[in-house]
Order: sequence, then C-alpha cells, then structure tokens
Amino acid sequence: MKIKSAEFVISNTDYRKSPTEDMPEYAFIGRSNVGKSSLINMLTGNKKLAKTSSKPGKTQLINHFLINEDWFLVDLPGYGFAKAPKSSRVKWENFIVEYMMNRKQLVHTFVLIDSRHAPQKIDLEFMNWCGEKQISFSIIFTKMDKLSSNELQKNMAKYRKEMLKYWEEMPPVFITSSSSQIGKEKVLKYIEHVNEQMRK
Ligand code: GTP
Ligand code: MG
Repeated sequence: MKIKSAEFVISNTDYRKSPTEDMPEYAFIGRSNVGKSSLINMLTGNKKLAKTSSKPGKTQLINHFLINEDWFLVDLPGYGFAKAPKSSRVKWENFIVEYMMNRKQLVHTFVLIDSRHAPQKIDLEFMNWCGEKQISFSIIFTKMDKLSSNELQKNMAKYRKEMLKYWEEMPPVFITSSSSQIGKEKVLKYIEHVNEQMRK
C-alpha cells in the first residue's frame, strides 16, 4: 500500500475525545522505548510525524495520525515504565485500558517486542489480557538490525515456546527495523488487507 498522506490529528488521554470518524484504526503498543513511534515514522516515511526519544517515556498520550485520509495509526504511551505501582495488577495506564476496551474503531493492535530480549512477563501478560478481552493483535519484533539473524531466530523461538503455553496458535508475527525499513511492506500489506475485510 502506498502512503500518500499522513497527518497528526489529535492527542489526548480520553478515547471519547478521539476522532469521531468511522474509520478503521491500528494501535501500536509495547514497553517504553521498544520503538513504537519510530515504527509509525518508518511506515509513513515521515521521520518527524511521531515524536521519538532514546529515553523511555516519550509518548505520554493517545496520538491519532490520519493516513491517506482513510484510516488511522495510533501511537500509544509505553507500558512498564515507572509510574504505575508495581503492586497493581494492571501495569498499564488506565486510559490505555479504557481506549483499548472501548474504542469501536480499533480494528487491530500491534504489540511491539524488542527482538533482543528474552520473553518478558509484562508483554506476555499484556497479550493474555488482549486475548481475554478479545482484542485482535499481532506481534512485531522490533530493532532487528541490532542482532544477528541467528540470535533473532533464537529469541523468536523462545517467544513462540512461551506463547504456546497459553495460546493454541501464534498470532501474526512481523519483524521490523525502523532504521533499515525492514518489514515496512509486510505491515502495510497486513493493514491494507484488514481494511479491505472491514469494508466488505
Ligand atoms: P515511548 O514513547 O517512550 O514508549 O518509546 P517508543 O516505543 O515510542 O520508542 P521510540 O520510537 O521513541 O524509540 C526509542 C529508541 O529506540 C530511539 O532512540 C530510536 O531511535 C530507537 N529505535 C527505534 N526503533 C529502532 C530500530 O528499529 N532500530 C534501531 N537500531 N533503533 C531503533
Ligand atoms: Mg513513543
């Protein structure tokens, strides 16, 4: 799919104040610093669209970007970074939970995972929670430029093993690098496919 236009529309902490258009939207979520905002920039070919930082905790709000005047990409704050008390069962912000559970236009969520790390409890818990709430998601392994293909395969196999303890099958899996544009076509193609399904 060709990206003809990508524009920032609105930021907020209340999904009820998000755009009212009945257009499909795709959210990007995952630990702070995993590369959500960078991936949105890579997909849209605009390095300045979403704000990125080498320090975790950059994105603090729900950010809507209108793509091709037809659908939205949504950049969300990361989870697993300070703030939320450790004792709380739900470690992600309440407004993110509200958004994910109630936003009618949300058709698919990409859960980003840093391909360098072993399976993390918080990510597994998040995906299990999506399953419980019947939120459609897929996995994107990010920053693949930072490790060898051998290491990448090993880490992905560990994830698969862990996931299959809870799931009958794996969700769709993508591998990306925002610095070398790897994975761009596959992710955009997937979105195009879901958009088509929605409009049938
Ligand atoms: P928060 O908004 O804080 O939750 O972080 P985020 O998930 O949006 O991460 P962000 O896109 O801001 O990127 C965090 C850091 O990782 C930045 O320094 C990026 O340049 C770097 N980064 C993101 N994606 C990649 C990638 O694919 N490869 C490499 N090498 N670095 C990346
Ligand atoms: Mg961000």
